Amino acid sequence: MIKIAPSILSADFVNLERDISRVAQAGADYIHVDVMDGLFVPNITIGIPVVAAIKRISAKPLDVHLMIDRPIRYISQFCQAGADILTIHTESDTMENTVSALKQIRACGARAAVSVKPGTPAEEAIRYLPYCDMVLVMTVEPGFGGQSFMADMMPKVAAIRAAIDRDAPGCELEVDGGVNLSTAKACIAAGANVLVAGSALFKAENLAAFIAAARTV
Ligand code: DX5
Ligand code: ZN
Repeated sequence: MIKIAPSILSADFVNLERDISRVAQAGADYIHVDVMDGLFVPNITIGIPVVAAIKRISAKPLDVHLMIDRPIRYISQFCQAGADILTIHTESDTMENTVSALKQIRACGARAAVSVKPGTPAEEAIRYLPYCDMVLVMTVEPGFGGQSFMADMMPKVAAIRAAIDRDAPGCELEVDGGVNLSTAKACIAAGANVLVAGSALFKAENLAAFIAAARTV
């Protein structure tokens, strides 16, 4: 079953509780929360207190995507705030610190994930599979919602899917950026089982219809 993770970056922040309830009722599997620090990416979004607030009102697991420099500094705080899945970028620290951060995430009781930017090869994610419960492949440059899908990332998704099936069955494979009802098909065909959708989903007339269609395109 394909899972849908709405990115609340495209929600109405004045009405965050309302929008999270709407996507949850429409059938979302996870709530995708984009945390940006203005260093790792050229944008600043939300931080630990907002994740904690969302946790209080979300019935769905929080899929927290850290686009921050040296995330090892903040693992315990994001876990305590209620992240159910905590994703860190392979480009944001040394391999040693990345492994250590992933171990910390699991030790906190959350699920650990690594993400790779468009310019980062599949191998950079595959090397962390023993420490991961999910891999996130960016299909746009991280930083902003509403960008165009990079179809040339599909071979990378397929390569990571092959490695997961071989070495880490049960590990989830998520794609993030520019996912809509046209591009979802290629993601699923390449082997993704979790689709993040921000602008396309929140613009949809009927959220439940969008989510049902995205699962089955
Ligand atoms: C981008 C974020 C995404 C973004 C997706 O850096 O990681 O989660 O919100 O938004 P759309 O679906 O509009 O590309
Ligand atoms: Zn994201």
